[in-house]
Amino acid sequence: MLDTYQGAATIEKVAALARRRGFVYPSSDIYGGLGSSYDYGHYGVLLKQNVKAEWQRALVQEREDVVMLDSAIILHPQVWVASGHVGGFSDPLVDCRTCKLRFRADHLGQSACGRKPSKHPGETADCDLTEARQFNLMFETSIGPVRDEGSVAYLRPETAQGIFVNFKNVTSSLRVKPPFGIAQIGKSFRNEITPGNFLFRMREFEQMEMEFFVPPDESTRWFEYWVEARRQWYLGLGMRESHLRVRPHDPDELSHYSSGTSDLEYLFPIGWSELEGIANRGDYDLNAHATASGTKLEWIGHEERYLPHVIEPAAGADRAALAFLVDAYDEEEVAGDQRTVLRLHPRLAPVKVAVLPLIGKDAGLVEKARPLYEDLRRALPSEYDDSASIGKRYRRQDEIGTPWALTIDHDTLADGTITIRDRDSLEQERIPLERAKAILLERLEAPWTPRA
Ligand code: GAP
Repeated sequence: MLDTYQGAATIEKVAALARRRGFVYPSSDIYGGLGSSYDYGHYGVLLKQNVKAEWQRALVQEREDVVMLDSAIILHPQVWVASGHVGGFSDPLVDCRTCKLRFRADHLGQSACGRKPSKHPGETADCDLTEARQFNLMFETSIGPVRDEGSVAYLRPETAQGIFVNFKNVTSSLRVKPPFGIAQIGKSFRNEITPGNFLFRMREFEQMEMEFFVPPDESTRWFEYWVEARRQWYLGLGMRESHLRVRPHDPDELSHYSSGTSDLEYLFPIGWSELEGIANRGDYDLNAHATASGTKLEWIGHEERYLPHVIEPAAGADRAALAFLVDAYDEEEVAGDQRTVLRLHPRLAPVKVAVLPLIGKDAGLVEKARPLYEDLRRALPSEYDDSASIGKRYRRQDEIGTPWALTIDHDTLADGTITIRDRDSLEQERIPLERAKAILLERLEAPWTPRA
């Protein structure tokens, strides 16, 4: 198994490309930025939307046993008491009395944030650390005009609890029966002590979580099923198999609710790190909310009544987008020129095709190119570009990961053919202009092989 990332990407290079090409900007940039907060630009929005759409396609659209939910971000505060988050969703925190920096006591000696807590930056003296104290990661806010003890509320630190507290609503309104799942995509908030590494760990991020409710004696089987199904999802979207692994948690790592968890880890340039966790949560959550709310949360069938067990695949949309970007990032020399290319799976690429008249100012070429573009964009995300040299336009499309470019030249006027250029192989082929849409749609559906 590999132990170092293979390829040209570093987190810094990917972040620089993301900013330069309008994927992701540091948040509140003109005010100096807000540490570890990011704003998505046009291509980033499209990329992350594609990640979420593929998740929903695989977990909901292509199955008949999972339904969607979109619960509120601010839930009743008792939800977080019952779930164990008020009492236990905390990290051990230490402060340095001299340099005033804060560290996670369980991450000392690691350099994930780029700082080494054993030394002051630029100095030689060791940090003078306080005793560890527990720091709750939930962001507190208040409801209503008066801020007092009774008004306290929390921004959700995970989307999962919104699902558990809707178990009764869903089972009584929709045609579901265990084994079945409830899926949710949405923002979560954690006051992380050491956020960092670009989109990897932020304080505001999007999760894609699914709670799969099963008869208790089927939980082991479904746990194994979902670990493999989720692994296949990343591979199916082109992630290199050599950079993806399953890591079962040691018993002392398990969360308070879990009787078994496996992480899917990606080999980022910072090392193997969690991409998604798949947990066997048993009946912990339904039990906790039934007890705290006084509402029965059992499954009641014709001849049976039981508290389902829950298998939870919990992924991060931003973290997945980062992993796909890192995995796709490549640099190579082409005819003496350096090119940077995002070899994104076509289904994830923000733009699928670029229409490029060879000479932007040539009215005859534009007259052919514009109607082609206007027709294509109704079927798939397309771009039209008639600025700069053709080489520059190809480079720009390579850097945003556009899999195909169509070039209209003077032969088009003579014989009705155009050139289709492949982003990865750089092969150029002539095809009839009127077949362009059908060919692109076929290629979009065709199997795609990631680079080695
Ligand atoms: N409901 C279980 C749960 O929330 P988790 O492992 O804490 O489990 C699930 O979070 C996923 O959410 C992680 O695998 C990661 O992809 C993403 N995630 C968690 N914290 C994050 C953060 N601070 N920034 C970005 N993504 C995060």
